[in-house]
Amino acid sequence: MSDNRLILLDKNPLEQSRQPSNAAFAEEYRNYQQIYNVYMGAIREIRARLETLDMEFQYRHKHNPIHHIQSRVKTLPSIMKKLHDMGQPMTITSAKKHLHDIAGVRVVCCYVDDIYLIAKLLLSQDDISLILEKDYIKQPKPNGYRSLHIVADVPVYLSQGKVFIPVEIQIRTVAMDFWATLEHGIRYKSSDEVPSFIVDELRNCAEVITRTDAKMQEIFKALQLLNDKEDEFHWSGET
Ligand code: GTP
Ligand code: MG
Repeated sequence: MSDNRLILLDKNPLEQSRQPSNAAFAEEYRNYQQIYNVYMGAIREIRARLETLDMEFQYRHKHNPIHHIQSRVKTLPSIMKKLHDMGQPMTITSAKKHLHDIAGVRVVCCYVDDIYLIAKLLLSQDDISLILEKDYIKQPKPNGYRSLHIVADVPVYLSQGKVFIPVEIQIRTVAMDFWATLEHGIRYKSSDEVPSFIVDELRNCAEVITRTDAKMQEIFKALQLLNDKEDEFHWSGET
């Protein structure tokens, strides 16, 4: 636990006065342990629904829209750092109020159409409600980042009843994920720390990836049509 505390220390005395004391931190650590399972419950709920949709789609259309899923509950140091940067009280009560990415699920799809299909199918479930949507595919970030982000309220059944928990769901293609994973290494560096050729090359790669994603989607659709025709031919030839 002392390690968790380390990243919260600030050399600036004014900032230090905003840091929680050890006793307060221990209290927040207990509060974090308590909410961890609830946010994990929300993640499990979303993952189960996504897996069911993926399996059903494979059965009906012989295609898995989801390549893989990753998920995490934000760590306590990361929660505290974000609250600190936002100038909000560094407590779990404040985190529940101000952060919508304590529970995070990343859905990596094969094709761009799959992204919108998955988002639509998930949000059409009547107990899941959309809180926020950011479409960085239609409007990529200036650095080239692309993904569809949605924050959805998900029901979680606890011993004392039902609670709705927000989950940040990032949906992207394999290619977008490849790009974001590499770019993540420079995301938290200041602009003078990163040579401009790296920033430019990454932006170029994002454009290449956008074109490649579009081409792969076209080829996939053409192949599907071909397979459908073959199936028709086999059926019509059957006696
Ligand atoms: P955060 O404080 O980083 O959570 O950002 P935000 O609350 O303004 O939300 P936003 O939708 O912009 O980003 C949420 C998450 O998407 C981030 O925590 C990253 O995981 C991912 N993300 C957003 N922008 C970028 C980017 O430019 N590069 C990479 N690699 N990931 C990004
Ligand atoms: Mg985040």
